[in-house]
Amino acid sequence: MTDPRLLTPSRADEDAQDEGLRPKRLDDYIGQDKIREQLHVSIEAARQRGDALDHTLLYGPPGLGKTTLAYVIANELGVPVRTTAGPVIEKPGDLAGILSNLQPREVLFIDEIHRMPPAIEEILYPAMEDFELDIVIGQGPGARSVKVPVERFTLVGATTRAGLLTSPLRARFGIVQRLDFYAAADIEEIARRSARILNVQMDDEAATDLASRSRGTPRIVNRLLRRVRDYAQVRANGRVTLEVVRAAMQLLDVDAYGFDDSDRRLLLTIIDKFSGGPVGLGSLAAALSEEEDAIEDIHEPFLIQSGFIERTPRGRLATARAYQYFGRSAPGRGWF
Ligand code: ADE
Repeated sequence: MTDPRLLTPSRADEDAQDEGLRPKRLDDYIGQDKIREQLHVSIEAARQRGDALDHTLLYGPPGLGKTTLAYVIANELGVPVRTTAGPVIEKPGDLAGILSNLQPREVLFIDEIHRMPPAIEEILYPAMEDFELDIVIGQGPGARSVKVPVERFTLVGATTRAGLLTSPLRARFGIVQRLDFYAAADIEEIARRSARILNVQMDDEAATDLASRSRGTPRIVNRLLRRVRDYAQVRANGRVTLEVVRAAMQLLDVDAYGFDDSDRRLLLTIIDKFSGGPVGLGSLAAALSEEEDAIEDIHEPFLIQSGFIERTPRGRLATARAYQYFGRSAPGRGWF
């Protein structure tokens, strides 16, 4: 069995481990060229005006660098960053407290911003738009609302899908950027950069092979790099060669596509239990005993991107490529 944490780009305790590997400046950030260039212009303009950067929404599958970018943005602006997450803000007062303590032009990073309770989200609207809080004093007929100013700040929100946000919240972001899976060459460069930082000797073809198994995801290539470093240290002479990568990946059950058991199970469920699909997300989730959100946000984006699953109006479909992967021929379609 593959350790489910190996290829699932969920974060767990990894932030601390990845700390030294994360780029701090835009110049050190590899890949996502268009986003980098657009951010560079907006950040430079805000800096020249001495103003806060516009509120920025970053969305896309996990592990692609949304948190990293939030910190890079703050670094480039030369301001502190305060971090929180949608599900941890429980009371309106929690958020009001954070907002009223922000420094001028500070970055407030809210991860999983789509998971903020609606009553709390409403506090953000006037804060984002007019840099003020609407505080309600008292209760019942005698209640009145007072406006309290907050510093001009930048909200950087992160979510897996922009569609999960309410439209009033989405509308208040001046900059909206979608992070997509990285090109193999960029992942390879990230692998080499991380190896340098970790003092790991790695051959070029080893970096290429490792990158091709990393699902276009920096968090995954960094995680696999740590595992091949272990393998090289214990079973070889410490140098990461192509043979070391292949052997370590075999031990970890990570195949040439970067698929693990959970990917294979998802594909086989569509193929065998639902005759290749189309199958609705609800039925698929029930058959796999998984949450619909987890399938949609974590498991299927890469399978769709690499052409193994297709999303149709009637549900998910296993493609010919998925059948070929299992050495089977795809059933004929389109005659009925
Ligand atoms: N580490 C994680 N993501 C990275 C990126 N985009 N560029 C460089 N190093 C990284």
